[in-house]
Amino acid sequence: MSKTVNDIMQMKSKEKITVLTGYDSTMTTLCDKADVILVGDSAGMVMLGYDSTKDVTMDDMVRFTTAVKNAKTDSLIVTDLPINSYENEDSAITNSKRLILAGAHAVKLEGGKEVADIIRVVKDSGIPVMGHLGLLPQTAEKYSVQAKKSEDAVRLIEDAKILEQSGVFSIVLEMVTSDVTKIITKNITVPTIGIGSGKDCDGQVLVIHDMLGMFEKIKPKFAKRYLNLSEEIRNAVGSYVKDVKDEQFPGEEHTFSMEKDELEKLEKENV
Ligand code: KIV
Repeated sequence: MSKTVNDIMQMKSKEKITVLTGYDSTMTTLCDKADVILVGDSAGMVMLGYDSTKDVTMDDMVRFTTAVKNAKTDSLIVTDLPINSYENEDSAITNSKRLILAGAHAVKLEGGKEVADIIRVVKDSGIPVMGHLGLLPQTAEKYSVQAKKSEDAVRLIEDAKILEQSGVFSIVLEMVTSDVTKIITKNITVPTIGIGSGKDCDGQVLVIHDMLGMFEKIKPKFAKRYLNLSEEIRNAVGSYVKDVKDEQFPGEEHTFSMEKDELEKLEKENV
């Protein structure tokens, strides 16, 4: 049975929540053990080759969400509202509905108290919202650890409480000091999902390409690599190229032939 937003909320303090990003059907099918598949706008970097998430469009996110939905996974599907898609209440609702129609069960958006009203109206329209605090890739000038100074920490803790009151069902904390993560997680009733924010979150999220070791442009300190897939892919491609050049591929077992009598008939045609 498919996971629901309620299932995820109930997991707080009982069982760690696992989240992986997903952008396509094949990979999502292989990730069905994850509680949540996040169709993240990190797609801009790992799928579309951009330098950041700032060029990702609604059309991109709709297409990736459709692909993930087609995996027919039991995981909850949450899709990022991309930059410039939730500038006001009307656009936030219209674009959230588009993502839900494409197959998302919930949407995620970045920001603290400045997006509280947007979160409230999207939630009131019947669409569950995941918040995102700490490092905000859609607006960040550079990627750096958040809440190192006490005044930044106070602001972040306040933002987390405001988001909770606005009705988010969970909050991603990106690159937040583990001390502040612990305080936020203790002080709000909705689950926190960490990325580079230590072990005290209620769950963890990783970009699938980082986790599998197949994204080489950036290697964040916080992303544990469970495979070195880029090396495996390069080796496999090298073997394929060598086999074709050496005429070792395709072999008999990869080849289709005509029946002998049909071949004889063809030969008589003198073509
Ligand atoms: O876009 C994304 O993949 C994300 C995660 C890093 C949380 O927002």
